[in-house]
Amino acid sequence: MPVGFAATKLKTLIGSAPLEAAIVLGSSLGTISDVVERAGSISYADLPGFPEPGVSGHGGEAIVGSLGGKTVLVLAGRVHAYETGRADAMRPVIECLADLQPRCVILTNAAGSLVEAVGPGSLMLITDHISLFGTNPLTGEPGDAGFVPMTNAYDRGFADLVRRAAHEESIPLAEGVYLWCTGPSFETPAEIRAARALGADAVGMSTVPETIVCRRYGLNVIGISLITNFAAGIGPGDPNHEETKRVGQQSAGDMARLLTRLMELL
Ligand code: HPA
Repeated sequence: MPVGFAATKLKTLIGSAPLEAAIVLGSSLGTISDVVERAGSISYADLPGFPEPGVSGHGGEAIVGSLGGKTVLVLAGRVHAYETGRADAMRPVIECLADLQPRCVILTNAAGSLVEAVGPGSLMLITDHISLFGTNPLTGEPGDAGFVPMTNAYDRGFADLVRRAAHEESIPLAEGVYLWCTGPSFETPAEIRAARALGADAVGMSTVPETIVCRRYGLNVIGISLITNFAAGIGPGDPNHEETKRVGQQSAGDMARLLTRLMELL
């Protein structure tokens, strides 16, 4: 099975140390991989089953190394449902993680804020999500395996550790509900007002399908958004991909410090 080959290749790099975390990097957060002491890396092209990201701001490399003294696998680059129309675009990657059994999977992303007090450059701990668009990465799952509980989608114990890491690093950390918009077009102001009424604090085009597949395999998820802009109609101007990349690059340092301290606390 192709994904099995990918896991075997990664296991060779990981060696015998327990894998503490797998970290999926969001848009323009690629520089975070620079703070990892690298043991080795493999291009997604050489990992059977791994998709190659087709959007600027996303690499396509799996890096094994040490962060905060712990062994981590950093996945620099993801594919989104909007690239293929398939909500399960990242499933082979998550299946590979299910084989590697990290203690936690950290999903990072760039997101638009619906909260005026949480502006560009802020970090937001995802405490829950909303996914109401009728697409689900587990569509067609055989038997009963798709009936996955999502009550603790973002693990509460690990979330406490993220709060502690942010406190110790003096990094302000917002918290909230992330609403998945399929994209690739940004939302209308009316959609953002509707999202607000539904209880969302941030919107983005990734993470939720990956969380669902992670929970299918019993993997513990941590979700952290880097707010790159105010969502449509909340601030002046249009959300745009250039801004997402620019703010992502500017604020990647805070995310890197947060993750490093988190690894130390694990
Ligand atoms: N909407 C959706 N996805 C995003 C946004 C946004 O405003 N910003 C970054 N990713």
